[in-house]
Amino acid sequence: MTLKEYLKKYKNIITKKGIKNPLYFVAKIISEITNTNITKILIEKEYILPENLLHKLNKIIIEDYPLEYITHKVIFYGYEFYVDERVLIPRIETEDLIKIAINIIKDKHYKYIMDIGTGSGIIPIILKKELPYLNIYGVDISKDALEVSKINAKKHNVSINFIQSDIFNNISENIINRLDFIISNPPYVETSFFENSSSLKYEPKIALEAGNDGQDFFRNIANNYPEILKAKHFLFETTEFNIEKTVEILSKFGKCNIYKDSFNFRRFVEKLHLN
Ligand SMILES: C[S@@+](CC[C@H](N)C(=O)[O-])C[C@H]1O[C@@H](n2cnc3c(N)ncnc32)[C@H](O)[C@@H]1O
Repeated sequence: MTLKEYLKKYKNIITKKGIKNPLYFVAKIISEITNTNITKILIEKEYILPENLLHKLNKIIIEDYPLEYITHKVIFYGYEFYVDERVLIPRIETEDLIKIAINIIKDKHYKYIMDIGTGSGIIPIILKKELPYLNIYGVDISKDALEVSKINAKKHNVSINFIQSDIFNNISENIINRLDFIISNPPYVETSFFENSSSLKYEPKIALEAGNDGQDFFRNIANNYPEILKAKHFLFETTEFNIEKTVEILSKFGKCNIYKDSFNFRRFVEKLHLN
């Protein structure tokens, strides 16, 4: 099948997705999968789609399978990371979380940092690349996710202490006492969202789902580790739909500041040190 024939066959499906320029849309996906310059694809009138490329295109276009899980690549904060189905594909708003964290860490001269729910490892790896003197712990409940974060740490030649743990459950007191700052982009998607969304179905549920109001993770950390939350400076990403509830849960431990993301959504909650 040629690209022209493909576009004719799937025009309705593609335009239903709100795509204004189907040719460019499909050519861009082909260029990412095959590592070919997009212009070469666009100018070749009878661009032939081999069977395995056709299969991948259909997965992405018809089944909403993420392109990043096919190319195993995502560019985030200007760095390239490996991703597969074991981890969440990093979202653009988390770049804002990292920018805010870097400002805080620099301003307060912090040295010991922990990222809870590290997934692909983007947060600790970028912090270490940007501020190489930091000592960073990357924590995740998922052994599978930690395997991916280790691939990425190796790829970027940085040393991070990765620990498998359900929040602080498996973290020694020694490490906890030392921490200056805790950062997290935890699961915060409401359960009902999965019923209506096809786009999230391929990513690990454990990375996304957080109960009826998207607050299960925050309640869990607040109920089980109140002393740590009281004592530490932290910054959490949360849902723009329910940030008031996150603040309500966390403000028991000190005054909370809210930051907006680049799309102007109130999304990040910071709790300062007590002293
Ligand atoms: C939204 S993903 C964030 C991944 C990555 N930090 C990012 O920003 O792209 C949340 C991560 O938290 C992990 N996680 C979920 N529950 C956890 C828990 N109780 N303790 C530690 N990690 C947890 C998941 O396995 C997942 O990797």
